[in-house]
Amino acid sequence: MAGNKLSAQEAKALCSRAAAAAENSYSPYSRFRVGAAVLLQSGETVAGTNVENASYRLTSCAEQAAIASAVAQFGPGIRIRAVAVANLNGAASVPCGACRQTIWEFADAEAQVFYPAAGGVMVETTICELLPAGFRLGPE
Ligand code: THU
Repeated sequence: MAGNKLSAQEAKALCSRAAAAAENSYSPYSRFRVGAAVLLQSGETVAGTNVENASYRLTSCAEQAAIASAVAQFGPGIRIRAVAVANLNGAASVPCGACRQTIWEFADAEAQVFYPAAGGVMVETTICELLPAGFRLGPE
């Protein structure tokens, strides 16, 4: 979807939504407070945060929480235009491999991803850059 990039203002707003969601992070084990906001092609924004569990392996990432919420609210046909990740620890917070595949499920190759790198620098990239040759079921 070339030519459909977020304006600087839209990107800032999406990052702010992600940071606001991170305020609600349930992360008593890692204390790594992550938020994510997804902007859908339909124009809605949905946010999520990481939710940890004493069993550790049941932890949900912020990106996955946001996407699950978007599907719950808007149905299985959602398409992601952009995703922003925020981290309240001032740490680098690139989407993990599982989150990349979850974004990919609902995104075209050029969907934008914003995440904080080391030193607080916001990186702007695409899901295709983060997940080359992502898995899809069936012939492309
Ligand atoms: N986490 C996310 O929310 N998103 C990611 O892409 C990577 C990791 C969370 C999971 C866990 O609660 C904490 O960060 C530390 O791994």
